[in-house]
Amino acid sequence: MIGTLSITPLHPSLGAEVAGIDLSQPVDAPTREALGRALADHLALVFHDQTLTPVQYLAAASVFGPPMEQHYSQHNMPDLPLVGLIWHRNGQQPAEQWHTDHTNRERPPAATILYGVEIPSAGGATSVASMRAAYQALPDEERRRLESLTTANSLEEGRADTREADRDKYGTPIEHPMVRTHPVHGSRAVYFHITKATHVSGMNPQASRAYMADLLERMIRPEIVYRHVWRKGDVLVIDNRATMHRAHGDYDRSESRVLWRVIVEGDRPRL
Ligand SMILES: [Fe+2]
Repeated sequence: MIGTLSITPLHPSLGAEVAGIDLSQPVDAPTREALGRALADHLALVFHDQTLTPVQYLAAASVFGPPMEQHYSQHNMPDLPLVGLIWHRNGQQPAEQWHTDHTNRERPPAATILYGVEIPSAGGATSVASMRAAYQALPDEERRRLESLTTANSLEEGRADTREADRDKYGTPIEHPMVRTHPVHGSRAVYFHITKATHVSGMNPQASRAYMADLLERMIRPEIVYRHVWRKGDVLVIDNRATMHRAHGDYDRSESRVLWRVIVEGDRPRL
């Protein structure tokens, strides 16, 4: 299979299209290895024109690691709970704030995998920012400062749609470095989740929030962002270890936007 695989960059900073693979079929070990390496290098991988059942999709996502449970369990498929549904008609709002997923976990997901099932006729893109490039662009002094800081992470307090059982299971505070080293690529990236971080080490919650908002404002510039405009049948793989992402809510809400989501296990973030 690996001989037919082609990888074409989509943007100068991050993102690549992978062609020559049908994800409904089993993926052999050399191809898994090549895809894992491509993800570490390009940080976002796009596979077009995939036709997948939920079971096939879960198997395809497993190429990037063992699937892990998602904490908004009410949005998981009842008969296949490792697949979550992103659908803005069942009370979910588009996640329009820049973030990386599930930082409330000791070992947050290495990757988030999304599959475009129903796509609105316009808008509703997903943007991915290279926090590796963001780190490299910071002045030396600020890089050193960030390397000395950590965040305390938990489930968001203000969300009324969090089930009590999920809060019990996934709400335990966990500390992560604000700069982490990618376990495959070896490079560093800025790492935090502005609403899951209750505070930055040594700062009160208000100062922490202001500092993180200021960092996002300064770091995330168009040249480090790949904006994925969805087509039905796309699979988008996002490397959470060195990116942040956001949804765009700029579409007609009378149209449906349905993505299936799988997250896969990662390492414990370390500087
Ligand atoms: Fe997300």
